[in-house]
Order: sequence, then C-alpha cells, then structure tokens
Amino acid sequence: MIYKGVIERYREFLPVSSKTPVITMYEGNTPLLRAVNLERRLGLQSIELYLKCEGFNPTGSFKDRGMTVAVSKAVEEGAKAVMCASTGNTSASAAAYSSRSGLKCIVLIPEGAIALGKLSQAMIHNAEVVAVRGNFDTALNLAREICEKYPVTLVNSINPYRIEGQKTASFEIVDSLGRFPDYQFMPVGNAGNITAYWKGYKEYQKVKHSDCLPKMMGFQASGSAPIVLGKPIKNPETIATAIRIGNPASWKKAVEARDESGGVIDTVTDKEIITAYKLIAGTEGIFVEPASASSVAGLLKYVKKGYFSEIKSKETVTVVCILTGHGLKDPDRAIKSVRMPKVVSANLKSVLKVIRL
Ligand code: F0G
Repeated sequence: MIYKGVIERYREFLPVSSKTPVITMYEGNTPLLRAVNLERRLGLQSIELYLKCEGFNPTGSFKDRGMTVAVSKAVEEGAKAVMCASTGNTSASAAAYSSRSGLKCIVLIPEGAIALGKLSQAMIHNAEVVAVRGNFDTALNLAREICEKYPVTLVNSINPYRIEGQKTASFEIVDSLGRFPDYQFMPVGNAGNITAYWKGYKEYQKVKHSDCLPKMMGFQASGSAPIVLGKPIKNPETIATAIRIGNPASWKKAVEARDESGGVIDTVTDKEIITAYKLIAGTEGIFVEPASASSVAGLLKYVKKGYFSEIKSKETVTVVCILTGHGLKDPDRAIKSVRMPKVVSANLKSVLKVIRL
C-alpha cells in the first residue's frame, strides 16, 4: 500500500472523520535508525540505541505531524486563516500546509532569533511573517490574544489537534521496534512534543496490551530551562534557538509525562549540545539542528553520570533519541562549528598536499 501520511495511517486514533479534508504532504513514516557508531562511543554494551529522524519530514521537522491534523481540521471547521508564534519550525510547517490548503497563514517570530532556513521557508510559502521585538514567549502571548479576538485559528501546540498528530511518532516507534522502548531522550521547548509522545505511548499501550512504557527523558538548554528551575525565565538564552523558551505552554503536561513515566527533565549546556551535534553528524551521518542534538547530549550526560550503570551485563535496554529537526535549517551554526575549507591553488600538487592520501 502506498504511504499517505499520518492521518491515513493512524486514522482510528485521530479526531478525523470521512468528512475531514486531509491536507497532507505524506509526513511521518520517518526512519528509526540503529546508531551502532554512537553505541560504541557510549562504551556501554547494554544500550541498543535508535535515532528517530524527524528532520526527514516534508518541511524538515516533527511539526508536520501535528500540522497536517491542525490544518485539516481548520479547513473542515471553515477557518479562513491560521496563526502561530514560532521559534521557526512551527511557522515553516504552518506556512507550507496553509499554502497547500489555501488558508492564509500569519506567523509571529522573535526578531533576529530564528534560523535562516526556517525564516526562508515561512516566507517562500507566502505566510504573513511579522518579527516581534521580543522573545518567543511574548510572541505567543500576542498570538493567543489575537486568536481570541479575531476569527483566526491558533496552530501552536496549545491547539489540541497538534498534539494529536504529533503523538503518531510514538506509534511509529513501537511499530518499528515491535515493542516499547525503555527510555526516550528528547528536547523540550514549549513542551508540546513530550506531551504528545507520552499521550501516544499511553494510548498505544492499551491497544498493544503491553505493560511496558518508556521513561521520558526531556532536556532543556541550561540557559532556557524553566521547568528544571521551577519558574519562568524572562530572558532565555541558548544557541539552540528552537528551544529558546522561557515559559512553556505545556509545562504541566510535561511534568506529568516526566513523573508518570519515572523519567527526568534536566538541562544540557550549549557546549554539550554542540558536542552532540557534531558527534551525530560525524558518526552517524545525520545532520540535525542544534536543538535536536540535546536529546543525544542528554544521553551522553546520563551515561557519564552512571545512570545506566545498574543494568546487568546480560541485559540490554532500548533507548530512542528523538532528532526533531534537520540541520539544513540552521546552516550558520554548522559553519560556525567546523573548520572552513582550505583554499589552494588549482593544481594537483596543492590539492594532494591538503588531502593527505
Ligand atoms: N526541536 C525542534 C527542532 C523544535 O523546533 C522544537 C520546538 C523543539 C525541539 C521542542 O519541542 O516545543 O514541543 O517542546 N519548536 C517550536 C517552534 C517552539 O516554534 O518551532 P516542543
């Protein structure tokens, strides 16, 4: 059967009917890759590590899973326009699905604080892009206010259809593995995604009659870690601009996911994020954006801390790291993180000298 996106594949778990016009770009069905090289790096024989490559979605991030449902429902309910505040990926996805559906799309972004790839996506898909002099949290408050007062549908993850669509990623993980993972490491920003995964796992547990659920291990950047600190942050900072959020909308739900699953929400520093970012690209061939690398950064931190040291030598645990967005979203960061190419004269001798064969 030809794959036709998350709504068709998981229709029975989603709030759609035969009347829902399905706006899709065949999102989802992303690879769950075994990361043998990273496993070796971690030095633990007992970890079976998988990477869920969400950057392979049509607009390059996991947001497409939720956006197909949110935009399809907006069309079904007769909306004329959708709106979101965004650190970049939500706006890229909203803009793309809107242009496909014929809806007007308005996006509010924090001025100067979103990666260029994401900005270019929103613009080329004809969204009305407004840069607000403030951060993501201010932009989200404005978007909420506008959507309350005007006939515009908010497509941030406060919109429950977004969470419904995003939960399909956990179904895919279970379907690919043939079982539930033991641990899931992932970035946390506005906290919609951890909420969605946990909802998905719990729903699938009932269907699959399993008694196993993963521990949800969420990671915020240390300069933007309101949930870890237990209070909102006025001026969040991190190079991982996608998760530069000081007051997450789904805060409570993220804490529930953590506590119900017996997991953690913790911090990783920008330095740890960049180390993991380069390691994923350099050992597994997967180019992710910095925010996505915080899942692997979190895993490295917890391995180092001895978190897994109690696993008996014969036992193995299954760990999934969620790689939420593609590296091409933020090429500036890649360029800043590596050595620039050497420039040589255009002759064989000069090239050979550099490539050291
Ligand atoms: N990773 C990436 C690449 C993201 O773009 C985001 C969020 C997250 C992780 C965190 O997910 O917010 O559900 O906890 N990006 C949002 C946006 C905020 O506007 O694109 P979350």
